[in-house]
Amino acid sequence: MRIVTVPWEMTRLVTERREAGQSVGLVPTMGFFHAGHVSLMRAAREENDFVVVSLFVNPIQFGPREDFKEYPRDLQRDVEIAAQAGVDCIFHPRVEDMYPQPYLTFVEVEGITEGLCGASRPGHFRGVATVVAKLFHIIPAHRAYFGLKDAQQVRVIQKMVEDLNFDIQIVTCPTVREEDGLAMSSRNVYLKPEERRAATVLYRSLRRAEEMVRGGEREAREVLAAVRETLETEPLVEPEYVEAVDWEGLRPVERLQGKVLIALAARVGKARLIDNVLLEV
Ligand code: PAF
Repeated sequence: MRIVTVPWEMTRLVTERREAGQSVGLVPTMGFFHAGHVSLMRAAREENDFVVVSLFVNPIQFGPREDFKEYPRDLQRDVEIAAQAGVDCIFHPRVEDMYPQPYLTFVEVEGITEGLCGASRPGHFRGVATVVAKLFHIIPAHRAYFGLKDAQQVRVIQKMVEDLNFDIQIVTCPTVREEDGLAMSSRNVYLKPEERRAATVLYRSLRRAEEMVRGGEREAREVLAAVRETLETEPLVEPEYVEAVDWEGLRPVERLQGKVLIALAARVGKARLIDNVLLEV
């Protein structure tokens, strides 16, 4: 497995592969791999001749009081995991090569970035859209793989690809969970043992929502109240938002119908965790 750090070398390598008739899959990541990342790598491995994983903790998607400095990093371990998953190349650029100073150009997806996580993380999705657009230019892949745990991020990238005519297919993969239901996240390492136990309430509350909808409930208000009530059973969990939105526009809905996302964010100790279920009603 190759490790490339220089953007133009990465572009040249992928361009050569494309010219040789190979299909290229890209898995954008911020590293500190877990089973969720591995599932994206495996999906990319199955569908492409050449698989690139980008590993870059993107400073511009973190707010000034967020965890950019503490974000977990372990390059050696990540390299081993990626090699085991059959990845061909890791792209691991330096911040100064991604953001030459002064850096003045950003990608802003409007509307769908305002609610959910966008409400408490101003500038976050601008940072995500900008770095993903840059990665799509540096690594001209046929397909790029994203996990549905970050559902709003998926919609932002899908919309950016549509609006800016990127020639790339966005492939979404299901959320990978621990045995007790907690969604895999690099930030789970922040949890102390009692917080880790408490955090299982996130998915429990979403499953309760799913069961209510399966049982015929269509009032968003009722379902969201049940989710909040379940979250409240864990004093270590501080909900930030619990919402039901339509998948297309991520706008709050009153009636649950069509493709609906029930999403939540909560603070558990030092960690800010998100989770969701996507329902076809
Ligand atoms: O989901 C992530 O890990 C990041 O937001 C991404 C898409 C790699 C952009 O930095």
